[in-house]
Amino acid sequence: MAATRPGAGQTALITGASYGIGVDLAACFAADGYDLVLSARSAGPLHEVAARMAAEHGVRATAIPNDLGAYAGGRALVDAIAARGLAVDVLVNNAGYGHAGAFTAGDLATELGMVDLNVRALVELTHLLWDGMAARRRGGVLNVASTAAFQPGPFMAVYYASKAFVLSFSEALWEEARGSGLKVSCLCPGPTVSRFRERAGTGKTRLASASAAAASMPVARAGYRGWQDDRRVVITGARNRVMAELAQVMPRRAVLRMVRHLQTPSGS
Ligand SMILES: NC(=O)c1ccc[n+]([C@@H]2O[C@H](COP(=O)([O-])OP(=O)(O)OC[C@H]3O[C@@H](n4cnc5c(N)ncnc54)[C@H](OP(=O)(O)O)[C@@H]3O)[C@@H](O)[C@H]2O)c1
Repeated sequence: MAATRPGAGQTALITGASYGIGVDLAACFAADGYDLVLSARSAGPLHEVAARMAAEHGVRATAIPNDLGAYAGGRALVDAIAARGLAVDVLVNNAGYGHAGAFTAGDLATELGMVDLNVRALVELTHLLWDGMAARRRGGVLNVASTAAFQPGPFMAVYYASKAFVLSFSEALWEEARGSGLKVSCLCPGPTVSRFRERAGTGKTRLASASAAAASMPVARAGYRGWQDDRRVVITGARNRVMAELAQVMPRRAVLRMVRHLQTPSGS
């Protein structure tokens, strides 16, 4: 008889599962037998991912297109999940975007939209789903932050600040969850192949030219395994781990100058 898979009988909600790291996070959970609820705005790609996960891993995969950047987008998603008679055991807050450039050179709606998606929707979903997970004493939360979380980011100020929030919030919840049966992890990837760079407009920065982007599957796998092991923070890549450590011990002014240099286009 085949061994029971660790996720059998449980459901993982993965936000931002139409493209990029979210698709591979979905595959990691599905490979271990978790049923999936997948969300993002793009209905077509989302339904394709759900169909592929169901076919490849023999799990139930439900696609729910939703704009988490809209006010109460998290509430709408949770209501849509409940209306299908589903309960969420693991919440993966992965949807997010960045925007590069001087703070006031950008459009205010783009900057505020980052706070709405990267921060507000993540808090909203976690708050709405936490008590149900705690009552079942299993599952938990995997939040996707970034190596941007470890220092302020001149010329990408709101994105870096949003990810610092995600890291701080996740670590606090990790401690609150102790003894509850819930696991909380914060995945902090460095540059990773996805649509992120295109939307953020970071393609011409020194950081982009200085560092090769990692493939998204190893990043997702590290996050998934880290969450299963209840690791508080998972930084992918040895170089990224060193840089995150350095940012904690270097003088703040030197860190700010370094990030400013990395976030400006080569040649400027
Ligand atoms: N790639 C990197 O270099 C990198 C590095 C560090 C951290 N991260 C983080 O990793 C996470 C995943 O990003 P990625 O690299 O996989 O980028 P991506 O390829 O652009 O994927 C982002 C996902 O979020 C979804 N999304 C965007 N806006 C949304 C909204 N308003 N409502 C619901 N879903 C929305 C997108 O789908 P739709 O467009 O269909 O809505 C897509 O599925 C993000 O939190 C990002 O900050 C990425």
